[in-house]
Amino acid sequence: MTVRFPYILAIDTSCDDSAVAILKEDGHIAADIVYSQNEIHAPYGGVVPEISSRQHVSRIARAVQEAFFQAGLQPRDIKAVAVTFGPGLIGSLLVGVQFAKGFAQGLSLPIIGIHHIEGHLMAACGDATFPSPPFISLIVSGGHSAIYMCDKNYQFKTLGETRDDAAGEAFDKIGRMLGFNYPAGKTIDDLSALGDDNIYVFPVAMRSKATLDYSFSGLKNSARLLIQTLLKEHGEIKGKVLFDFCAGLRKAIVAALLNKAFMACHAQEIKHLVLGGGVSANSLLRTEAVRRGDLEKIQVHLPPVNHCVDNAVMIARAALRRLKEGQQHTLDFNVIANVSVDTVSGQPPNR
Ligand code: KG4
Ligand code: ZN
Repeated sequence: MTVRFPYILAIDTSCDDSAVAILKEDGHIAADIVYSQNEIHAPYGGVVPEISSRQHVSRIARAVQEAFFQAGLQPRDIKAVAVTFGPGLIGSLLVGVQFAKGFAQGLSLPIIGIHHIEGHLMAACGDATFPSPPFISLIVSGGHSAIYMCDKNYQFKTLGETRDDAAGEAFDKIGRMLGFNYPAGKTIDDLSALGDDNIYVFPVAMRSKATLDYSFSGLKNSARLLIQTLLKEHGEIKGKVLFDFCAGLRKAIVAALLNKAFMACHAQEIKHLVLGGGVSANSLLRTEAVRRGDLEKIQVHLPPVNHCVDNAVMIARAALRRLKEGQQHTLDFNVIANVSVDTVSGQPPNR
């Protein structure tokens, strides 16, 4: 039986943001709330799992309430609930999933658990030009850097992934060496605009055509060594030196990401490349992806900048596709801290 759902409530608490969205069946966004914990984790240089889950506990009900206020709706207007079940921080995931289950059970609503990466993959699908599969997807975030093939049944297959740090993690860790707060990706992106990207050349790893995997540990190491050299030369890293450093770093990471993504498109003879994840907010990655797409006859699909980083709109979008096919979970589904999207996509969940 197909579930009818004029409005869907979606929740993502996979990491450090409490995200809630309400979407209409046609994809219209009625509410989009993200309670960020960035400032709370900034002094630690990264997300502290225990703090993150406690913050979700104290914020989730307020975030849902605010979503209803923003949408001008009541809980009785909701006809289905979607929630991220994994991957992510286990304590954080539990808060969102338990809240979603309680909401669904209290109102006798269907519920569907969504894989966080499937959400990132669907973040661009609000755009009318979003392709029907098959397409290639590049998901680049703080926790993931991977290339997926999405077949016509929305079954995802990992074609390549990072062997060490994710691209966002590289931005964040190198940013920390420079004294920036976590997360540092946007700061480095903004400062790069003021610099010359030809002054400092960073290594682009895994250039070999034999693999679609990434590696950012060499880049991190060369950044550390360069920082030591620059500190010796200048005493501190600021002004033009800092801007040039950021620009060179951004250029290397973007080149590494796009080389493999376009290589995958050509190898699979696919004409559509879908980007997603926090790093897909990077301004150079976005312009370079489109520029190369034009040159190489591959249509590039970008999520709106505010839906690159974690949000619940993308979870709602992924859920809408599944709900329209009549898929739903029974209430006994579990959170999974570490699960590949390959194993859960393409197939209906338990019922
Ligand atoms: O998708 P996301 O919100 O969380 C995960 O699922 O990991 O991604 C967060 C990551 C962080 O590493 C952050 O530094 C990075 O996205 N990020 C950026 C930019 N905005 C966010 N990296 C580069 N340039 C940006 N403009
Ligand atoms: Zn994410």
